[in-house]
Amino acid sequence: MKKHIAVLAGDGIGPEIVPQALNVLQTIGQRFGHEFDLAYGDVGGQAIDSRGVPLPPDTLALAKKSDAVLLGAVGGPKWEGLEYERRPERALLGLREQLGLFANLRPAKMYSALVDASTLKKEVVDGIDVLVVRELTGGIYFGKPKGIEQTQTGHKGINTEVYTTEEIQRIAEVAFKAARKRNRVVTSVDKANVLESSELWRRIVTDEHKKYPDVELRHMYVDNAAMQLIRNPKQFDVLVTTNLFGDILSDEAAMLTGSIGMLPSASVGSKVGMYEPIHGSAPDIAGKNMANPIGMIASVAMMLSYSFDLTKEAESIEQAIQKTLDQGFRTKDIEGPGTTLIGTKEMGEKILENL
Ligand code: IPM
Ligand code: MG
Repeated sequence: MKKHIAVLAGDGIGPEIVPQALNVLQTIGQRFGHEFDLAYGDVGGQAIDSRGVPLPPDTLALAKKSDAVLLGAVGGPKWEGLEYERRPERALLGLREQLGLFANLRPAKMYSALVDASTLKKEVVDGIDVLVVRELTGGIYFGKPKGIEQTQTGHKGINTEVYTTEEIQRIAEVAFKAARKRNRVVTSVDKANVLESSELWRRIVTDEHKKYPDVELRHMYVDNAAMQLIRNPKQFDVLVTTNLFGDILSDEAAMLTGSIGMLPSASVGSKVGMYEPIHGSAPDIAGKNMANPIGMIASVAMMLSYSFDLTKEAESIEQAIQKTLDQGFRTKDIEGPGTTLIGTKEMGEKILENL
């Protein structure tokens, strides 16, 4: 198999973790007889500095014509003062929108070696396996009207939470189909006791569910879901929710597994999928060889399985991660008593050795 992959390393720890993931990818290619052709593009703050915009047109064109996109991270304090349209984060939103990636899959799975790395009690987190299905191109992130307007006494800031039938149907479909490959329980998270857009969300998800009688559907308000995730996370299998709620709840779900540095994600919905760890650019530890590359490496595994149907290859990466953790190797974020602290590069090398 020959595939073209756009590599957008971006900012902060992005350029440190991406090479580790690419080493793993190329080794998989050699091992299993696939060719992965890499093309690099500028994105985020790094693109602002070198090209003046967070998402240069040639980066977008590159992403569109590739078979998949691997993204590191974007953003950092250096660019925080810029107006919204010019900020690094816009690159991410632009890629999601332009590539039609309406579904974001964020699996939060506990590696048994890491139960002690979680801030929660072992019996609460041991064995958790939650898939957050986050709507990614709608809701308040993209709704109009938006902006900051002048008033007589000051300003008002406006954003709009909006969802259409079609947008809700297609994300519900992704969630129900994913549940069929798992434990067949979907929890739909909304705020239907207050928001009309959520009332519609709940109605459409309930309708869509009729096509999946073999899957159980539960509804939960978002405040309760935030609580239940730390109270009893094992009650969840697939959790489907809006763009904003999914952003928040997936960070919370990530922390259950010990560190946000562990979680990969897949953004899918049309021809080209995009794969990135769920964490940000972590400017505080950038350039120090301290970042955890596992979320990035696991994103390669998701790419292999979701975009290219290479499940054996994906599994071998997951097993190598598991084995490395079982051997006691840890980056700073998941360090604990009796474990061996190593850096970003060394973690990448250990996982390679275990492939
Ligand atoms: C994420 C991030 C992004 C989001 C930011 C960087 C725009 O937090 O992917 O979860 O809010 O979607
Ligand atoms: Mg987020």
